[in-house]
Formats: sequence, C-alpha cells, structure tokens
Amino acid sequence: MSGQTTEPAAGGLRIVIGSDEAGVDYKEALLKDLEADGRVAEVIDIGVHRAAEDFTRPYPYVGLKAGQLISEGAADRALLFCGTGLGVAIAANKVLGIRAATAHDSFSVERSVLSNNCQVLTMGQRVVGLELARRLAREWIGYTFDPDSASAAKVQVLSDYEGC
Ligand code: RB5
Repeated sequence: MSGQTTEPAAGGLRIVIGSDEAGVDYKEALLKDLEADGRVAEVIDIGVHRAAEDFTRPYPYVGLKAGQLISEGAADRALLFCGTGLGVAIAANKVLGIRAATAHDSFSVERSVLSNNCQVLTMGQRVVGLELARRLAREWIGYTFDPDSASAAKVQVLSDYEGC
C-alpha cells in the first residue's frame, strides 16, 4: 500500500505533538504522557509554547507543520489540540497523504487507525475532559493499521486520488 501509514517504525512511534493557544494545557499534559510511554520512541513538540513567541500562532500553522513532518518521513503520527480539534485536523488534512481525524470517543479513535489509517488524531480542549483525552491517547498509541485488512483498499482510493 502506498502513502504514509500509522505503522510504527522499529523501536517505537515518533509522534508530533502540537496545539494552538486554546489547546496548550492539554498539549503540555499529553507531552508528559507520551514521553513516559514505552511505546513511543520520540516526541516532537512543535508548540505552541507558553510565554514564548509562538504562543499566538494560529491553528492552521500547527496542523500544516504536523502534516508536513509526517509527509517528510520525520514522524509517524501526530497528536494535536485546539479549541475544538477541528481546525488542526482541517489544516493537517491539507497536506498530501495525510489523514487526520477529530475524535473524542474510544470507538472513533480506534476506527481512525484501524479503518482509516489516520496518522493524526486531534482533540478539542474545550470539548473533552483531560482525563478522557489522556485515556484516548493511550488507546490510540496501541492501534496499528493492518495493510492486509479489508479497509486497506478503501484507504487506497484516497491515496490514488492524491497520487501518493
Ligand atoms: C481558537 O482560535 C479556536 O478557534 C481554535 O482553537 C480552534 O478551535 C479552531 O478550530
């Protein structure tokens, strides 16, 4: 199957984490969780950072940067936050080959990987409680897309459309 997948590189996942100002509390909390997770080989923090110049960077830049890092092969996945999770997902999806989904429930998080081979999960700090977001992220890390599954041909339609 062509295109970027959610399959972990040998040694664990390389995960981008990012947010805009409206998601920075969750970004900081989940950054610590990812760094402590043995399934994660590398965490790439693309901001925004509290009390830093990038703090007011609008959400599209965050989503686009995350998508580009995956597209370039520098990361396997991204976990992104904004107020709703929608803006960063829309932005990441503008990058060729990237499949980003906003999900605030366990089943959708699972299916985003197993059905849709999404590399990017987004959540909204103004939508979901912190402890649920942490649990969903833990679950998300445990899923791996099966390229031999019936879902693969459906995802391939998107890859073919994009020519990647
Ligand atoms: C705040 O700018 C808010 O609009 C943003 O974080 C996000 O929810 C957009 O989708």
